[in-house]
Amino acid sequence: VPARIGGLDDVVIGESAISRVGGATGELAYRGYPIGDVVGHLGFEGTLHLLWWGRPPDRDPPAGLVTALAERRPLAPEVARWVEALPPGLAPMDALRSALSALGGGGAFAYPPTEEQGFDLVAKSATLLAALGRRRAGLEPCPPRRELGHAANFLAMLLGRPPDPLRSWALESYFDIVADHGMNASTFALRVVLSTRSDLLSAATAAVGALKGPLHGGAPEHVLDMLDRVGEPSAAERWVRDALDRKERLMGFGHRAYKVEDPRAVLLRGIAERVADPRRLALARAVETAALAELGRRKPELRLFTNVEFYAAVVLEAAGLPRELFPPTFAIARTVGWVAHALEQTAENRLIRPEVTYVGPVDRRFDSGYALRTPPA
Ligand SMILES: CC(C)(COP(=O)(O)OP(=O)(O)OC[C@H]1O[C@@H](n2cnc3c(N)ncnc32)[C@H](O)[C@@H]1OP(=O)(O)O)[C@@H](O)C(=O)NCCC(=O)NCCS
Repeated sequence: VPARIGGLDDVVIGESAISRVGGATGELAYRGYPIGDVVGHLGFEGTLHLLWWGRPPDRDPPAGLVTALAERRPLAPEVARWVEALPPGLAPMDALRSALSALGGGGAFAYPPTEEQGFDLVAKSATLLAALGRRRAGLEPCPPRRELGHAANFLAMLLGRPPDPLRSWALESYFDIVADHGMNASTFALRVVLSTRSDLLSAATAAVGALKGPLHGGAPEHVLDMLDRVGEPSAAERWVRDALDRKERLMGFGHRAYKVEDPRAVLLRGIAERVADPRRLALARAVETAALAELGRRKPELRLFTNVEFYAAVVLEAAGLPRELFPPTFAIARTVGWVAHALEQTAENRLIRPEVTYVGPVDRRFDSGYALRTPPA
């Protein structure tokens, strides 16, 4: 019997006061503040403050919060050894998912989630990913640096050199742009797990699993692969036509919620214009122009536009990150939103347990053709 669970399009599953996605108008707001006013003005720690506590910090930077995150960056020796012991062939997203589990020793993440657990998850996931990235490159991990903000410290730990201010700004802006996004698939997965009164780490690893797929957070590395395959701006139109003829999806285009341009794409395009290599940027613009023209011509009713991942790929590359680290970098940025949702979920928790319509056969009986076991006498 063919049976399926649909995409829950337009199904409202409850209420949240964290971020508002206006799919029809191309709006995104954190706690009521338009994303364009948040990015570049609050910084990473200020954005976290806004998302977790519903208001911007009184002071910039929020000193207590900066310290709380900075002092949680170092990994316990046994966690660092666990990172070393992971199979070297693990994809970075799988390695991050596995490494996160090691943070839960001593019941540190017991239910219910707390702000302190949230600081730990946000701070240590970045240290873990930097260590995993260096290990992948055959390098020793670099210790965290207390005096740097979250994004600059991540770059310093990963690249092993003092971060360039423009790159740190670009990465911090990226972190803020993707910190939260309504009831996306990974946030939904996180809230389902927490609703069973399971712990924040288990929920975060489930969320990482959901984020990994190319229909959610796994697209940006494929965006760069696509740009590499196109090669030259003059080849973009032909390449896009051929890919769509082969029934391929163009990575970085289309969105479940946005039927106009994704507001995050607008911001990331602006950042890319400041940090990306001019030739890379010219190629990206040519592919985007060709993709929008061809998608609009072939599927006008679907209203497919540039999504967050397209220019995220260009910005992350310009910040100095290798492409295989793009999905887990998205994950460590999204930990901020995940924690906000974890706190909101558990403040008034109820088990999330929907129904499904059974469409299989009914009223069947085993006939004599089956060899049925008999219970022991
Ligand atoms: C993001 C995405 C999964 C949203 O999709 P969705 O709401 O589930 O929409 P559907 O998967 O039902 O797609 C609807 C139609 O649009 C087409 N479509 C959607 N995105 C497309 C894309 N990027 N390129 C080509 N066709 C696309 C699908 O092929 C489908 O057409 P069909 O019915 O003729 O097969 C989808 O747009 C996509 O796969 N994009 C590419 C991957 C990507 O950029 N992911 C990052 C998301 S932020």
